[in-house]
Amino acid sequence: IDPTLDLFEEIERLKKEKNAVILAHYYQEPDIQDIADYIGDSLGLSQQAAKTDADIIVFAGVHFMAETAKILSPSKTVLLPDVKAGCSLSDSCPPHLFAKFKEKYPDHLVITYVNCTAELKALSDIVCTSSNAVQIVESLPKDQKIIFGPDKNLGAYVIKKTGRDMVLWNGACMVHEIFSEQRIVKLKERHPNARFIAHPECEDVVLKMADYVGSTTGLLKYTVDNPAKEFIVATESGIIHQMEKANPDKVFIPAPPNNACACNDCPHMKRNTLEKLYLCLKNELPEVTVPMNVIEKARKPIERMLEISE
Ligand code: 13P
Ligand code: SF4
Repeated sequence: IDPTLDLFEEIERLKKEKNAVILAHYYQEPDIQDIADYIGDSLGLSQQAAKTDADIIVFAGVHFMAETAKILSPSKTVLLPDVKAGCSLSDSCPPHLFAKFKEKYPDHLVITYVNCTAELKALSDIVCTSSNAVQIVESLPKDQKIIFGPDKNLGAYVIKKTGRDMVLWNGACMVHEIFSEQRIVKLKERHPNARFIAHPECEDVVLKMADYVGSTTGLLKYTVDNPAKEFIVATESGIIHQMEKANPDKVFIPAPPNNACACNDCPHMKRNTLEKLYLCLKNELPEVTVPMNVIEKARKPIERMLEISE
């Protein structure tokens, strides 16, 4: 790339020329969030992908998110700036093993968290995100037997909230399991007026300490609505960019990980850069595709989720 090129200008120009839209998750680097047409959590991004009239969707997020956009808008070209941007949670649930697991519970309904492959969605009855998981489980009859996967922490949180018994797949997110209970306790002692907020992909020991638990959009909204001036944030650090923009007078402290050398960045999300985004829009590559037979099966559980979340 020519170093004198203004990438912001070039991306804007290409977007208009190609009738493209940039959808970005809150965990993307600040430059990408600033150039995006829409920034959101997984539910918001799916809703946007379903309704956009752009010809090209540039998905600044991870592979399963781009796949979800393709399933909802199969006639559109879906691009992912770095095709290797995966997800440890999605990887923790290989579809062939899940299919065997599912066979053991033939009378159970399958709810899968959106952080999974298109093949896994195709094995599901309803998809959910962190912002509607409780609502979706509560929309089902009380005696409905349920398998929930792949995130065991979100699953355990939903069980606690709804009082339903669900069979859980043993998967987790590498970023949200990194937080240290002891270091959070100490940090809270040093900041007695801070609110502690956490994403439901965190472990129960962390969630128990939280003043508020929610999806990235839920956490952002809480920081705006709550009068506190300090927040300790237990989720990927990318969201702090929007929290600071929305609340210039408030302070946001990333929750400490269990290893002082670690950080709260998702290495998969952070594979995307502004340079890669520019190149992908320019070259219309890498493109994310999903086989038509998988699209047909995976579409229904996602649409069921969107209907319940309306
Ligand atoms: P939400 O933004 O939907 O809360 O999801 C968090 C996440 O881990 C995405 O990978
Ligand atoms: Fe996957 Fe966790 Fe990264 Fe989200 S933060 S993309 S769940 S590894």
